[in-house]
Amino acid sequence: MNNVKFMSGENIPLEMHKVRMVQKVNLIPVEDRLIAIDKAGFNTFLLQNRDVFMDMLTDSGVNAMSQEQYAAMMRADDSYAGSETFYRLEAVLQDIFGMKYFLPAHQGRACENIIAQTLIKPGQVTVMNYHFTTTKAHITLNGGIVEEILTDEGLKIQSDAPFKGNLDIDKLKESIQRNGKKNIAFIRIEAGTNLIGGQPVSVENMCQVSKICRAEGIKLVFDASLLGDNLYFIKVREQGYKDIDIKTITREIASLVDVLYFSARKLGSARGGGILCHDEDLFLKMRELVPLYEGFLTYGGMSVREMEALAVGLQETMDFDVINQTPIIVEALCNELLSTGVPVVTPPGGLGCHVDAMEFCAHIPQTQYPAGALAVSIYIASGVRCMERGTLSEQRNPDGTERLGEMELARIAVPRRVFTLSQVKYTADRINWLFKNRHLIGGLEFVEEPTMLRFFFGRLKPIGNWPEVLAKKFREDFGDSL
Ligand SMILES: Cc1ncc(COP(=O)(O)O)c(C=O)c1O
Repeated sequence: MNNVKFMSGENIPLEMHKVRMVQKVNLIPVEDRLIAIDKAGFNTFLLQNRDVFMDMLTDSGVNAMSQEQYAAMMRADDSYAGSETFYRLEAVLQDIFGMKYFLPAHQGRACENIIAQTLIKPGQVTVMNYHFTTTKAHITLNGGIVEEILTDEGLKIQSDAPFKGNLDIDKLKESIQRNGKKNIAFIRIEAGTNLIGGQPVSVENMCQVSKICRAEGIKLVFDASLLGDNLYFIKVREQGYKDIDIKTITREIASLVDVLYFSARKLGSARGGGILCHDEDLFLKMRELVPLYEGFLTYGGMSVREMEALAVGLQETMDFDVINQTPIIVEALCNELLSTGVPVVTPPGGLGCHVDAMEFCAHIPQTQYPAGALAVSIYIASGVRCMERGTLSEQRNPDGTERLGEMELARIAVPRRVFTLSQVKYTADRINWLFKNRHLIGGLEFVEEPTMLRFFFGRLKPIGNWPEVLAKKFREDFGDSL
């Protein structure tokens, strides 16, 4: 898209693919949406897809695959051990990342389980730009402690900083001094930092962190699940990288770290995951856990068809016209919302558009989950399913008190190459309407609250009858429109 200018001067995200297979979607009336969200315990994770118009819950495992990926699935070699498919995937990974050792796993969190069990001793600290929900759960389950050292800019909702996912180098040095390097299990960089709005990390920052890790003898772990988006931002935002090809940048990044893992539900637009490393000893330690939790070493819980699709998807990630598709749509959605004053995280990141519920629903206290309430309201107003990323996604403190989120975001994910611009504009239109009527949105409270990762399947109820009032206002304003 970067090289295509419109005569009108408008900045329109241009799709660099054509649609050759479609799935019909349904938009049910607002009254039915109200019934559906009630049945789902006011948790968008628990909605059934038949009641959802646009599924913008996540970019995980729901990206459109290319014809080459589908074609590759046909040649999968189905065998428990020694599958040709595994060796093809391993060769692609070694070629792209320049890392020698590969372990397959069924998804990203499975890699986190293996890495945490291998590297963490109880009481040790893991230092990172920002946590991800499942990452933190695995670290704490293994007795580790999460310490975050994001730059201050990273938590500002509106900012001009191009790399809000960067680690603060002074905070890193201070943390090593305070904790002592023996008490640090590893340092973790999350590319395309998910929970702060899909914000990227610069190569310059990764180089600085790597240098410190090497000097101190601390392991550097890299979460590459959102590397595709991050590579796009390096190309367009980081000085000196515009003309460097994506594979060279990828290799440079991989050379800086000790362990690299990914969710293939995101990276490579397939389903699965994997861990890569340079060091044989570490590989052998982690390898012991793969047959125990994942499956034999040549499939690791993945179907061989998905592994073939992943091998091709990873190669396609090295194509700028592939990785630019989500970020340009995210930017378009953010701009549509910003034009009417809706507060969103800026600069736009990858992964999705993040609406700031702390401001959108400033009248709702954090203990009543404003981002969760906003996600529910967006579903009622549009049939679009998005996700809460705030206090609800946190785990309670050991004493039972709420751990308040540093941000309260409703994340409208943009699965790769799935939705068209008119669908994105529809989403913006309904959120803009909601913004005008935001005073009608109320809080939520738990009815059933799981102790671990409660946001996935906890059930809630509205405080008051605000969902009915909101649906009634929708009907008044939109007449007989769906
Ligand atoms: C940055 C990051 N790391 C890890 C994971 C976990 O991956 P998975 O969902 O495949 O278990 C995710 C998933 O969203 C992610 O965004």
